[in-house]
Amino acid sequence: MKEYLKKLPAEIQDLINLISKAASLRKWPVYLVGGFVRDLILGKDNCDLDIVVEGEAEVFAADLAAKLGGRYVRHHQFGTATVYKGHFKIDLATARREIYAQPASLPLVEFGTLQEDLKRRDFTINAMAISICQNNFGELKDFYQGRKDLKAKKIRVLHDLSFIDDPTRILRSIRFEQRFGFKLEPHTLKLLKAARLKGMLEITQPQRLREELILMFKEKQPLKQVKRLNQLAGLGFLNHKLKLTAKNKNLLKSVSQQIGWFNKVFPKRRKLDEWLIYLLAFLDCLDMNSTNEFCRKFVFRRGDEKRIFSAKNDIVNSAQGLSKPKVAPAKIFKTLEPLSYEVIILAKAKYRNRHLQKYIADFLEIYNGMRIYASGSDLRNLGLSPGPDYQKIFAEVLEAKLNGAVKTHEQEMELIKKMIRRDSHGQD
Ligand code: CTP
Repeated sequence: MKEYLKKLPAEIQDLINLISKAASLRKWPVYLVGGFVRDLILGKDNCDLDIVVEGEAEVFAADLAAKLGGRYVRHHQFGTATVYKGHFKIDLATARREIYAQPASLPLVEFGTLQEDLKRRDFTINAMAISICQNNFGELKDFYQGRKDLKAKKIRVLHDLSFIDDPTRILRSIRFEQRFGFKLEPHTLKLLKAARLKGMLEITQPQRLREELILMFKEKQPLKQVKRLNQLAGLGFLNHKLKLTAKNKNLLKSVSQQIGWFNKVFPKRRKLDEWLIYLLAFLDCLDMNSTNEFCRKFVFRRGDEKRIFSAKNDIVNSAQGLSKPKVAPAKIFKTLEPLSYEVIILAKAKYRNRHLQKYIADFLEIYNGMRIYASGSDLRNLGLSPGPDYQKIFAEVLEAKLNGAVKTHEQEMELIKKMIRRDSHGQD
């Protein structure tokens, strides 16, 4: 594998050499493993180094972070650690064997050899290692014919209980299959279906399924992923009302186009949580009760849950209000400003009304983030003491600005003076 390692960017090679030297100082055998090895052989970029050390991963993480000037996080529960340095992430684990005391629950873990560590993994293509020990640097450790399966484009489990021990692998197998254009080999497919029939997904911790589902939506072609998920596992384990209809599929396609549009037109804006927009589209067929049920079961992060509900609650009225000609810019602003970009892109994908399309584009291009020049000190200079009136005045000036009635600081000040005169007359 030396020739493969030499093709890596110099930065990664340096990192690997440094890890190798640090391990030799401790006299701990150390290996690159998992997705990094798979992607190296496939010739795909991967900045996430996965390292197994036949030694103490947490201590080793501290060594590395100190040498690299990076930071590290220990995950006590699993005896693993992650080192961060620039855009690189190095996951470190002590070689371990796992015992699944109960199906679908997290395994009991004890220290083991590299071979045992590879044996507990999901698929043969993810169960290879490359030694980066000083004495046999670059040697491939392929106990389970992973390389052969990579070549044959096959997803294969290492043993018959793999999907029973860890049913999240049902989703993982689909994810890798669709990502790489591979096929589940027939015996693995049979085992997957048997685990599905046994209801293993129904007894898996929902949070673990949620994380896998999110990863599916983070893939390049989420529609392909969910189609295959629907075909092999159904969607009932997520929510019994979830269906993949032609309407849903079209919405997912449209989301993908709108994300492409946004990224092209606004390359400097905050990066979209693209996976979430796909999820919103996926959940579009659910009514409010089922959405509630889904969120309660899978416990999404607060910000994500907020956007899921916003897509249900706000989007219909907003779209209705904007699906007609001659809507004033201030109204467009008021309607769209409270929504997240993710929900706005969903609306743009979902409603094809040409007025709405134009208003959303205008909002993102012109109105979003529009600020007024007038400030609190301007109002104080006009003799107004700070209070709730300030917000009212600013809102009115912004509205006038959005509608094009004022442009410059001077025009804003003229307007404010007029408002003060108007209000003082009103009080007389
Ligand atoms: N793994 C496993 N069973 C799981 C999750 C992970 O056996 N349920 C193992 C696999 O060997 C995998 C490694 O842990 O390669 C790292 O997991 P993860 O980072 O999720 O997988 P990657 O293969 O790196 O996937 P990706 O390319 O999507 O990052």
